[in-house]
Amino acid sequence: MAAAQGVRGCLLRGPLRARLGRGCSSGAPVRQQQQQALVAAPAPAQELPSTRRKGFLTEHAAPFSAFLTDNFGRQHNYLRISLTEKCNLRCQYCMPEEGVQLTPKSELLTTQEIITLARLFVKEGVDKIRLTGGEPLIRPDVVDIVAQLYKLEGLQTIAVTTNGINLARLLPRLKEAGLDAINISLDTLVPAKFEFIVRRKGFHKVMEGINKAVELGYNPVKVNCVVMRGLNEDELLDFVALTKNQPLDVRFIEYMPFDGNKWNFKKMVSYKEMLDTVRQRWPDLEKLPCEASSTAKAYKVPDFQGQISFITSMSEHFCGSCNRLRITADGNLKVCLFGNSEVSLRDHLRSGASEDKLVQIIGEAVGRKKKQHAGMFNISQMKNRPMILIGG
Ligand code: 5AD
Ligand code: SF4
Repeated sequence: MAAAQGVRGCLLRGPLRARLGRGCSSGAPVRQQQQQALVAAPAPAQELPSTRRKGFLTEHAAPFSAFLTDNFGRQHNYLRISLTEKCNLRCQYCMPEEGVQLTPKSELLTTQEIITLARLFVKEGVDKIRLTGGEPLIRPDVVDIVAQLYKLEGLQTIAVTTNGINLARLLPRLKEAGLDAINISLDTLVPAKFEFIVRRKGFHKVMEGINKAVELGYNPVKVNCVVMRGLNEDELLDFVALTKNQPLDVRFIEYMPFDGNKWNFKKMVSYKEMLDTVRQRWPDLEKLPCEASSTAKAYKVPDFQGQISFITSMSEHFCGSCNRLRITADGNLKVCLFGNSEVSLRDHLRSGASEDKLVQIIGEAVGRKKKQHAGMFNISQMKNRPMILIGG
């Protein structure tokens, strides 16, 4: 395996290939990271009158598809594709105990459809694709999908969010195929608690997956930890300590309400509260500059190799700089994680819509994107899919 740590800790793979502008495993491509480091956090989204939408585009230096730009000037260059609704775990925060009704296979996107849609989005300006699920690594052709995405010119970063169970086994091949960045879910460092939270065994496999990612040079290896009161909030400091000698970015995620996960305001531990806890132990915790479109607020204990971040989806939403679109495993385009408005790209594809027509449909959906989600109390009342059917 030809792997080397390159500039700014980025992972350089394969024959170091033609596409040098391509992804750093932090999620953002090197070039983009450098630019973003200079950009201040964006102002909250302000609606542009529709006649100004085009004007907004021409006034801005980098040309970007009008179809992927919404009425608030947000440019959607990041696409998350769910590869499957199935999962080998049953995390309490993601799905109801009784499971979810799965879509029949014939209604899920085929590999070819996934690649066709990905190509279309990349042509319009998407430069980062994350594969999600369910658990993306249980899709038998996941390595092939990464390899095909890798061929798309203009795509700078291919990332995956996984529960880590199959990671150690698959990662060498995924890396060879062109996988740039990995997020691994891990909510506890206590094996018995792991089984309680995810309702399955597998703690050691996940740890093996994390170690394999570090060993293969991914830097940082992102670890997603959903923090829930009474469950794992007592482990915050243990998670921070993991970043001492390893290139990990432990991301503490505020617990979000989705259909069937029994969210309750009291179970959510806010960013501020988590930060306080960490600061009491490490008062010299440093805030790191954040990328313009980043959903994470990053911090570091001085001299620790890794870092920590907070994903404040509930207490401080980041709708103003949202650059994400999602495609569900059954082929629906979802412009907001917390919105229930969806359009079936699968149906249009299968009825033979031309590329232009598809792009127009995507543009219309993006044009309907709201300025921001309805706030945490409203979200908890809203009809939406369970997380496992949305795709992270
Ligand atoms: N709240 C916060 N994050 C969630 N995830 C899934 N469900 C929730 C929820 N209710 C995130 C976890 C996991 C990824 C697949 O989705 O971070 O790592
Ligand atoms: Fe599976 Fe991820 Fe949902 Fe857990 S959070 S049940 S690992 S899809």
